[in-house]
Amino acid sequence: MTVEIIPLAKHIGAEIRGVDLGKPIDPSLREQIHEAWLKNIVLLFRDQKLTQQDLLDATAVFGKIGKLGRPKEFRPAGYDSLLENIMLISNIRENGEPIGALPDGEMMFHHDMLHAEIPHKGTCLYSVEVPSSGGNTVFANGYAAYETLPEEVKLALDGKRAFHHYNYGTTKKGANNGVAAFSESTHPIFRTHEDTGRKTIYVNRLMTVKIEGMLEDESNRLLEQVYDHSEKPEWRYEHVWRPGDLLVWDNRCSMHARTDFSAGERRLMLRTTIEGNVRPY
Ligand code: SIN
Repeated sequence: MTVEIIPLAKHIGAEIRGVDLGKPIDPSLREQIHEAWLKNIVLLFRDQKLTQQDLLDATAVFGKIGKLGRPKEFRPAGYDSLLENIMLISNIRENGEPIGALPDGEMMFHHDMLHAEIPHKGTCLYSVEVPSSGGNTVFANGYAAYETLPEEVKLALDGKRAFHHYNYGTTKKGANNGVAAFSESTHPIFRTHEDTGRKTIYVNRLMTVKIEGMLEDESNRLLEQVYDHSEKPEWRYEHVWRPGDLLVWDNRCSMHARTDFSAGERRLMLRTTIEGNVRPY
């Protein structure tokens, strides 16, 4: 079977048509999907009717399923039947408490798990309920941004590392100041993707704090230039969700953000991750 691959935007994203992820995926199809993922960074599968086990099986097409690894208090309450390594992203509240993580509104651009020593490679997000507008997920291609970064910024940052800090659940920088970090890391500002060999930008506005060994003002000035460049609309694809969409993205070479949405409308997503196996270099 040969899959149909339809680009979603000039620089990032493709829709895969003709694949039912609720059915077994044979090795040749698995290879085609994996190759399309490395090339397009974000894959969309529409109209999927997935059980939790189907979602885990679909995640395994891209690599080893990531462990949630989150402190117990961040596990969603009220979902005892949730299979291990699936988390809820949701603004639905029971007894006043959100049943899922990252419940409300806009989120700044970020790479999932940038704050970990060995970050997860990718993320799968499957939509169950979506608001009538907003709550879109916006992706930006980190290779394209790296390749077009002004030469003087590239030279100033070549070989440098940045420090990252994240409090789980934070959607805007500084929103949780003073709270102990969920985790912290330092990684190269320009990372090499271990499967494609290409260089990509690996800092973001939500989680990156500073450039190692640089005075604060200079570090802030350079990071702002990198954020502004890497968030430019030309590198982006904005996904408007429909129930039954599965998106799979590569966190090594892309970052994503979320647009605002009404607190009065329900949004429910199931999320899994694909484990990383290298320390970024
Ligand atoms: C995420 O950043 O993992 C969540 C994105 C979303 O809710 O659209």
